[in-house]
Amino acid sequence: MFVRGDICDGPLVEQLLAGHGVRAIVHFAAESHVDRSIHGPEDFIRTNVVGTFRLLHAARSHWESLPSGARDAFRFVHVSTDEVYGSLAPGDAPFREDRAYEPNSPYSASKAASDHLVRAYHHTYGLPVITTNCSNNYGPLQFPEKLIPLCIHHALAGRPLPIYGDGRQVRDWLYVKDHTAAIRRVLEAGTPGETYNIGGWNEQPNLEVVHALCRLLDAERPRPDGRGYAEQITFVKDRPGHDRRYAVDAAKIARLLGWRPAETFETGLRKTVHWYLDNQDWVADITSGGYRDWIARQYGP
Ligand code: TYD
Repeated sequence: MFVRGDICDGPLVEQLLAGHGVRAIVHFAAESHVDRSIHGPEDFIRTNVVGTFRLLHAARSHWESLPSGARDAFRFVHVSTDEVYGSLAPGDAPFREDRAYEPNSPYSASKAASDHLVRAYHHTYGLPVITTNCSNNYGPLQFPEKLIPLCIHHALAGRPLPIYGDGRQVRDWLYVKDHTAAIRRVLEAGTPGETYNIGGWNEQPNLEVVHALCRLLDAERPRPDGRGYAEQITFVKDRPGHDRRYAVDAAKIARLLGWRPAETFETGLRKTVHWYLDNQDWVADITSGGYRDWIARQYGP
């Protein structure tokens, strides 16, 4: 059953948990776009910090009301980000679970705050929580404010492909279905109180990501004028406080839970491009209205 609601709405969350015999919560709900957090941090504090608190509060009373077998089996999986660890220099080892938190954007600070609340609910009340910190997701159904779907959409529309700064910032890309498989595994077999980093073992500089997309689009949907999509690449002003590099060490989840990503960047990106080419109606639908206002605000008219 799907219920559209606000995680800050405590009474609604409490009523849903009690009324549906909920056995687990997988908490994905978040404001997630760094650029939006720079323009409007307050929404991030509300949803990510207050919303997580309300969810934890409701989960705790629900969990405490369960009979003992169900209480032991209950799980609260908190889906978070590698951005809580801050930025890496080129030669640094990838983020492990024991790395200190050093969030740099209002977005990552709000996620770090939520991670700490989740941890505290385990430590203080014994709530069986598990936190996952993932790298950059990509794949079908991603809102085209993020780099990969934005560039596919802009390429096909003949618009500039905006690269912030020098485009040499590095991200670790994780195909969304690999991510959901990892979360399922954590839900089945993860240990309460633990955290697991989830990454694609796939670091790429932004400029290389966009060139790879252009090559795929050149092959799959050549430009009518016969020129390459890479001609649309445009360097724009850098993001303030732009983190240089994220990389995730996903060895713990591989060793303890047997999860590894199934897709390489090549296979995942190809699937992603195919999905967007086959679902242009979906893209057209969501890139009207509020999306246009965002693009005008962020990238100029
Ligand atoms: P993004 O998809 O916003 O994810 P995150 O900020 O969580 O890493 O951005 C991925 C990288 O791409 C990041 O280094 C910022 C950069 N980027 C651009 O160069 N141009 C863009 O238009 C966008 C949206 C992102």
